[in-house]
Amino acid sequence: MYSLIVRNARLNDQIVDIAVSDEKIAAIAPAIPEQGQKEIDAAGRMVSPPFIESHIHLDATLTAGEPKWNESGTLFEGIQTWALRKQSVTHADVVNRATTLLKWQAAQGVLHVRTHVDVTDPKLTGLKALLEVKEAVKDWVNVQIVAFPQDGMLSYPQGAELVEEALKLGADVVGAIPHYELTRDYGVESVRLAFRLAEKYDKPIDIHCDETDDPNSRFLEVMVAEAIRTGMSREVTASHTAAFGSYDNAYAMKLMGFIRRADINFVANPLINITLQGRADTYPKRRGITRVKELWQNGLNVSLGYDDVMDPWYSLGTGAMIQPAHMAVHVSQMTGRSEVMACYDMVTSNAARTLGIAERYGVAVGKPADFVLVDAPDKWEAIRRLAVTTHVIRGGRVIAETRPPESRLLGERITFTK
Ligand code: FE2
Repeated sequence: MYSLIVRNARLNDQIVDIAVSDEKIAAIAPAIPEQGQKEIDAAGRMVSPPFIESHIHLDATLTAGEPKWNESGTLFEGIQTWALRKQSVTHADVVNRATTLLKWQAAQGVLHVRTHVDVTDPKLTGLKALLEVKEAVKDWVNVQIVAFPQDGMLSYPQGAELVEEALKLGADVVGAIPHYELTRDYGVESVRLAFRLAEKYDKPIDIHCDETDDPNSRFLEVMVAEAIRTGMSREVTASHTAAFGSYDNAYAMKLMGFIRRADINFVANPLINITLQGRADTYPKRRGITRVKELWQNGLNVSLGYDDVMDPWYSLGTGAMIQPAHMAVHVSQMTGRSEVMACYDMVTSNAARTLGIAERYGVAVGKPADFVLVDAPDKWEAIRRLAVTTHVIRGGRVIAETRPPESRLLGERITFTK
């Protein structure tokens, strides 16, 4: 007997029933005759693999307004505000805030989260707290931790040693921040160091790379060269690469060829890039986002992150991944029908490749029974309507339910469809 059957779900333009047993998807067919111990009527809603958060900072999340709001909204006031808030950061404080945000995300169908954690702290408070959180939440969300040296590997005392210590303690991914090192030389060396650590500890790499409008910030080319030299490709992720949006086309086109050779992953954070970059511009004002559309057109793997939810750098947000996908459509001008749907993939299947979990991800027989129902018939409608995730299934168990909004005007039901 099946433990769960979801009926009338839309999968790739077909209406199907999905049966679950032993925490796996056991059958997918137009009509499954057996009864399930529990049944859900999807009523034609899209079934989707779970949403994935490719890039967030759970150690700083949910601190907006403490001890003050970032009124200018700039990166610099964010750093100043965080310096104040950082004084009261404790183990319990990080555990509580990170767990709360993971609950928000899981309730909205996000079942895999890659978080960066600042390890330029001799006590590694954030890291130790997030290692505890990762273990405590593992039954309902899969967390990956990036050892992220916010103040630099060479520009902060013992920065590189702290990254290595974090890896020894259990961090899953090697981080770096080359554009924020004191010199170009330090930046180049930090990228090489990250690759050396990745090889030594057999870990993937995710580097905050060129998160600036400065067209002379060219650490992406260093990452690409290291990826080609070491043969690492899909284990390597370049996060942000905002400066790629400011490079002149002659350089950018040459670089794109090298990127194709390296075949690394990219993560853009459209909500944050559009708000934090371009601040030194008057008009015309740059969008501050990497070349998402062109990377996608070149067959490269791009996924999207939220980056910040209610912290000193971005005081808004709920953690619903449909929002960065919606913003990517706009800020990257991906408004074509296939382009909009590609932006949905950037918070689901592409992100699974970034996190290295593609093999056990997807709605197919034999895969883990981790999937969501979205209140829309397809990816395009999900983004257009910023659709709600109505059911979240993890390991064959319904772990979250949300009632979609219902509008009535003078007694008539308004559905926002043609
Ligand atoms: Fe970030």
